[in-house]
Amino acid sequence: MERLDKILSATGKWSRREVKELLRQGRVTVDGSRPTGPEMKIDPEQCEILVDGASAGYEAYTYLMLHKPAGVLSAVEDRKQKTVLDLLPRELQRRGLFPVGRLDKDTEGLLLLTNDGDLAHRLLSPRHHVDKVYYARVDGRLEAEDCRAFAAGITLADGLVCLPARLEILSDCEALVTVQEGKFHQVKRMLAQRGKPVLYLKRLAMGPLRLDDDLPPGAFRRLTDSERQQLRAMEKTI
Ligand code: URA
Repeated sequence: MERLDKILSATGKWSRREVKELLRQGRVTVDGSRPTGPEMKIDPEQCEILVDGASAGYEAYTYLMLHKPAGVLSAVEDRKQKTVLDLLPRELQRRGLFPVGRLDKDTEGLLLLTNDGDLAHRLLSPRHHVDKVYYARVDGRLEAEDCRAFAAGITLADGLVCLPARLEILSDCEALVTVQEGKFHQVKRMLAQRGKPVLYLKRLAMGPLRLDDDLPPGAFRRLTDSERQQLRAMEKTI
């Protein structure tokens, strides 16, 4: 049960002041009746909340797939640089969304934005072995020996040992890399360790989510029902 004014603010459509006004002007109904006041406690999953006769659009959690472009920080805010949150409209910026894991500033590709902290934790914990798939282009010639080294677990320059990972060679200088953890600059450092520095990196998939081919860099969309179900199904198994 939550306060009605909090529920309306959480939609991101109105500021707190605007919510107060909506209620004062009698433009809100809960299950067909005028609410008793802004502090009225209701279950937003069970009640129909209308504003001017249309659904208030409350959702417990928001899940967005963003095609992160290069040059943007995977952060919620930054005093100087553009962040992934700056790519969203104001209404969505007010929902407390954050990126699930970080992509480097120059890395492109799939980034999940949500306000569901539990899901984020499960997707990111290395204990849960969620696959993240990257397309990498490198300076150098990839060889079968690199695949074997990835499968055995690369030891980085600072002595950190990576979990076994998969390297699938696509061409002399291109590969798909699948890792289950998210150490700082991990894919770049793994390939650098093999003497093949990354020139371009793009995340294609994370768990059951695949980057939508129809999303150009900088664009986002809500997850489909099917994608949300797949995430939920994955959560049950990890
Ligand atoms: N590994 C990297 O090196 N960079 C990223 O952005 C993601 C994974």
